[in-house]
Amino acid sequence: MPRRPSNPFPNNSPSIPWPSFSPPAEKGGSLFKSGSGKPSRIAQFFSATPKSKAEAQSAAAALLAASRAQEQLFLNSTTPPISNPSLSLPTISLSTATADCINMDAPPTTLFQPPSPGEARRLAKQHAQFAPLNSQSHRYTSRHQGGEFPEPIMDEPPYYYLLTTYISYLILIIFGHVRDFFGMRFREENYRHLKSRNGYAALNSDFDNFYVRRLKMRINDCFNRPVTGVPGRYINLLDRTTDDGNYHFQLTGTTTETLNMSSYNYLGFAQSEGPCADSVEENVKRYGLSMASPRGDVGTSDIAVECESLVAEFVGKESAMVFSMGFGTNAAGFPALVGKGDLIISDELNHASIRFGSRLSGAMIESFKHNDMRDLEAKLRDVISQGQPRTHRPWKKILVVVEGLYSMEGTMCNLPGLVRLKKRYKFNLFVDEAHSIGALGPKGRGVCEYFGIDTKEVDILMGTLTKSFGANGGYIAADKAIIDKLRVTNAGTIYGESPSPAVLSQINSALRIISGEIVPGQGEERLQRLAFNSRYLRLGLKRLGFIVYGHDDSPIIPLLLYNPAKMPAFSHEMLKRKISVVVVGYPATPLISSRARFCVSAAHNKDDLDRFLSACDEIGNVLQLKFASGIAGGAPPLEHGVTWEMEQSRRRLQKHDKAIKALVTTPRWRFEDVVKRGVQDVKVPLR
Ligand SMILES: Cc1ncc(COP(=O)(O)O)c(C=O)c1O
Repeated sequence: MPRRPSNPFPNNSPSIPWPSFSPPAEKGGSLFKSGSGKPSRIAQFFSATPKSKAEAQSAAAALLAASRAQEQLFLNSTTPPISNPSLSLPTISLSTATADCINMDAPPTTLFQPPSPGEARRLAKQHAQFAPLNSQSHRYTSRHQGGEFPEPIMDEPPYYYLLTTYISYLILIIFGHVRDFFGMRFREENYRHLKSRNGYAALNSDFDNFYVRRLKMRINDCFNRPVTGVPGRYINLLDRTTDDGNYHFQLTGTTTETLNMSSYNYLGFAQSEGPCADSVEENVKRYGLSMASPRGDVGTSDIAVECESLVAEFVGKESAMVFSMGFGTNAAGFPALVGKGDLIISDELNHASIRFGSRLSGAMIESFKHNDMRDLEAKLRDVISQGQPRTHRPWKKILVVVEGLYSMEGTMCNLPGLVRLKKRYKFNLFVDEAHSIGALGPKGRGVCEYFGIDTKEVDILMGTLTKSFGANGGYIAADKAIIDKLRVTNAGTIYGESPSPAVLSQINSALRIISGEIVPGQGEERLQRLAFNSRYLRLGLKRLGFIVYGHDDSPIIPLLLYNPAKMPAFSHEMLKRKISVVVVGYPATPLISSRARFCVSAAHNKDDLDRFLSACDEIGNVLQLKFASGIAGGAPPLEHGVTWEMEQSRRRLQKHDKAIKALVTTPRWRFEDVVKRGVQDVKVPLR
């Protein structure tokens, strides 16, 4: 059994130096360690001259008295108190004052001045949205390391675990049907809407309905948690209770501040202050809140045009257009790009908006196995040789659609492989960069930049502005001729509303910060912190022994839970530790691969990630989630002299050679070692 280190950051212990941002009154705790009044051993240790016990006691008492006075002052202040790590720093006096005889003659020499309560509150608010960077070494540049793009290795749990997962679902489904059977007979009033009446069929009696009522409802408190405030580094949950099995919730009136591992706030632009917020405020005053009409009528403003040219420049395309909704961008974009006689070949894990738009377009749709270039090639050969159904005429056009970064798997598309196939089979390529724009590449320009591939190789770059830019809406960028056509043929902007000025100015200022046009250095820091945090957390989880999916540089990290009962258990355990996570199950994932999906942000710092890793470690032991076999990584870095290419050929051998496979060690690192080795190891190729 792996050893279970104790959590170094328990939430309710005021004596631990973990910065808590919750108001002390709420927690019922004190900012300062009160109580014993014993001499501080550390103070004695650093004392230059040996002091008598009494002297040491009085010095400690003086410190304590100063702390208490400060605490009292703080608690007496009229405005709501917000604790801040810097507040707990007492003023250290180098004078010889003792508790009972204060030396009034010599004014104390002050080393640390605590910030004023107002300043402390401002800092606490700022840090609750975006953490301060602890060290410049916690930065990394997101870029493909070169060589073949490795397919992520999908580790698997033991068979008994998969079996018990299936059995769990079976039991839930049997129980659900038994309850429905009796319920429909003995509690008819509750089931009226599910039964046919007067010859009319019940519209909502299907498996989805059953699934929601009998399976999802059991764990519904893990979803749709109401929140308040900015979803930055921390997120505030509105506490709620239920007394009817999650059908109804009552708000308790209190809130809980939690570490936010759940928002798509990749670059940490979810902030209520700073240059973006200032520009939004200014533009709202100038333009108002809404354009009050679709763009096609009278809704195009200079700020929208500016946004489009900034987006086009950022992604490296001739022209771009923005939409007021990311989902709507795909829903309206596909029907404008393809139609009858065309073929869409779509990755099987593509987002619902792509599927929806594709179906609306009227084009034929084929799919290929997720990220599998061999399967895509086989499909291409087949459809090109066969042509359209029945007539066998050649397709008018073939559009291959992939995502840059998959939001449930954490995998990136194999862009080098796609471009190779594109050159051979001459199809058009559409890449949805909803999660990769801003999040990947040395300058945040997405998968093309990450792989060092010219954006000309991709015909259409789509993305959403909801995630990395802290705004909302979507864009499509392509050659000018395509965008010109799109402007007059897509329903999203002809009939849909224009993006609001507030949203547009958030996008514009975020883009300017990322590209260094304003606040130079800040954009780069955000990008590099995100890249470091993503690799650090992924490596840490692998080393602790978890099965995680996805590529190393992905800020989306799914941790596999498998068993349906582990979704609520994991979510509740995290909540107990004041951490918010998203748990995902069927139908968003295959039935047996339920998972927790973590979203890393530039707004986190290493302390946050260590706190999170420690929580995962504890919960992983309690819930028995550490199944990693080692084939997907978690090993120490390569030995000196071993190159990445040598390692890759070793990995290739692994697949066939059982003897070498036996050499793969199961990663079960101690939490302390994960933290100790993490910073240096994330900077080299991960194993
Ligand atoms: C790949 C992909 N495309 C489009 C969208 C829709 O974007 P939005 O949420 O901004 O409407 C999403 C949403 O997560 C997505 O993941």
